[in-house]
Amino acid sequence: MMRRERMAEGGRNMATEPWKTMQGAPAPGQEIIALDALEQGVRVLTLEEFGVILLREGDSVRAYWNACPHQYLPLDWRAPSILSADGTKLMCSNHAAIFDARTGAPAEGSIPVSCGLWAIPIAVEGGKVVAA
Ligand code: FES
Repeated sequence: MMRRERMAEGGRNMATEPWKTMQGAPAPGQEIIALDALEQGVRVLTLEEFGVILLREGDSVRAYWNACPHQYLPLDWRAPSILSADGTKLMCSNHAAIFDARTGAPAEGSIPVSCGLWAIPIAVEGGKVVAA
């Protein structure tokens, strides 16, 4: 789908949601994974060519585009372990940028990045995690 067409859908600002223009980005309503298949903690998966970070805490699930705002590399590019032991921080394995796992915002003391991780709106419906 062309970028201009995507901009017309719902009038969202693509400048602040660049993930929407990427190949494989989930469309609203698209299933991402069954909730039962998602363990507690972090899971990184790929939808076509689109990387998603899923964080599950109980039945609460958050999702981010797996692209670090520093150089757009996947956070797990150099190492698969990207969630802190206490589950509160995500760390990019490339140059160690750190993000708040609950908000995606850059963490204090991390390398300078211009913005945080891009959240992907999701919902849990009928036992499935779907794009919202
Ligand atoms: S690409 Fe993530 S910190 Fe550099």
